[in-house]
Amino acid sequence: MTGLKTAKFKIVGGKALDGEVVISGAKNAALPILLSTILTDEKVCLKNVPDLADVKTSFKLLQDLGKKCSFEAETGVAVIEGGVTSHVASYELVKTMRASIMALGPLVAYAGSAEVSLPGGCAIGARPVDLHIKGLKEMGAQINLDDGYIKANAIGAGRLHGGHIIMDKVSVTGTENLMMAACLADGTTVIDNAALEPEVEDLAKCLNKMGANVKGAGTSRIEIEGVEKLHGCDHSVVADRIEAGTYLIAGIATGGIVTCCNTLPSTLDAVLQKLREANALITVDGTSITADMRNRQIKPVTVVTAPHPGFPTDMQAQITVLNALASGVSSVTETIFENRFMHIAELIRMGAKLEIKGNTVICEGVTRLKGAQVMSSDLRASASLVIAGLAAEGTTIVDRIYHMDRGYEHIEKKVRGLGGEIERIY
Ligand code: UD1
Repeated sequence: MTGLKTAKFKIVGGKALDGEVVISGAKNAALPILLSTILTDEKVCLKNVPDLADVKTSFKLLQDLGKKCSFEAETGVAVIEGGVTSHVASYELVKTMRASIMALGPLVAYAGSAEVSLPGGCAIGARPVDLHIKGLKEMGAQINLDDGYIKANAIGAGRLHGGHIIMDKVSVTGTENLMMAACLADGTTVIDNAALEPEVEDLAKCLNKMGANVKGAGTSRIEIEGVEKLHGCDHSVVADRIEAGTYLIAGIATGGIVTCCNTLPSTLDAVLQKLREANALITVDGTSITADMRNRQIKPVTVVTAPHPGFPTDMQAQITVLNALASGVSSVTETIFENRFMHIAELIRMGAKLEIKGNTVICEGVTRLKGAQVMSSDLRASASLVIAGLAAEGTTIVDRIYHMDRGYEHIEKKVRGLGGEIERIY
């Protein structure tokens, strides 16, 4: 871990990326799906599981809870089986991966009680979990906050009951947590104002394969008819739309041509629309998406992040690099998270002309960025710095790349496969 924490990327920029990159399974689908296996003691076999730090943390969490996990990184196949024997998700794990909060719903639904550490603050804002707690209370969980832990008990003879949950705010992991809990609750649960993200849909698909009865995932009203128990299943994790968008932007920023294979293009509509507005030639062929930027100039685009199907906050930092290199002035507004502009100061160090005004970044395009020493602050911020480094003149050193390892599988191999010059140094 210490080795990982001190690792840096050395990037020699200025080469147009050219080639094909195979997109991995989505981190944000794999994590809830892995945690959904808490709901059954039978064998769940998952394919297209990305080899990422957060995935490994999820295995550690499942193992701590008593489950048996095996993972073959080369094939992306994970097998999880056995019942949970503990109902505690420790601070040590939750602090390294906020998504661990999604153990709360399945644990209390399966075991009747759960203790999950409260996630602390994080680099991209306060990120509370009140909606998760409120929803579980609606389903009959008694919840106390004690010693930094959320302690939940199903008071109806150890089982939750159905409820009508109206989410005050659209929350992705909140929707997923409650959807999982509702699968083993007595009666019907309705979640209104549910998140529409494709990862919510993929989780619902997997839950239904396990014998759950979830309807409406991918719409703002999800209905879950609780069942007695769930069984094992096989499932392949949906493609990572954020990883795909990141490589397309890297291709565009460097003036190259990049094809992302194994994608689900319909999950990228808002991103592809902005990339076309930015003057990239985008073509979709089955599960492949190509962005061709050869001999074209980047045009500035106005971006406002929004819940799906709007422009994803997880692509905000990356598209800002395109605006930093565009011919003109534009703006990027972040509406989901406060404090998600940590990459801006670093991009300015590389010669970008960016200015933060409230929750908007005003971008005045420059013709070239220049290599510099920069620091990652979170996962997507680090992706934007790698893109900037690939597009910049000279050498860029990106520090604290452990953030990047949380969400991008085999980055160096993939970037090098496209002709980019990147090396991990210590
Ligand atoms: C998920 C994604 C993350 C993405 C985000 C928004 C995973 C593992 N992570 O994070 O990559 O950036 O969706 O698309 O899937 N909120 C509350 N109370 C709550 C929960 C959330 O106020 O109980 C607020 C948050 O502070 C934020 C907004 O709701 O302002 C949306 O957050 P949410 O969708 O919950 O993000 P995550 O699920 O944590």
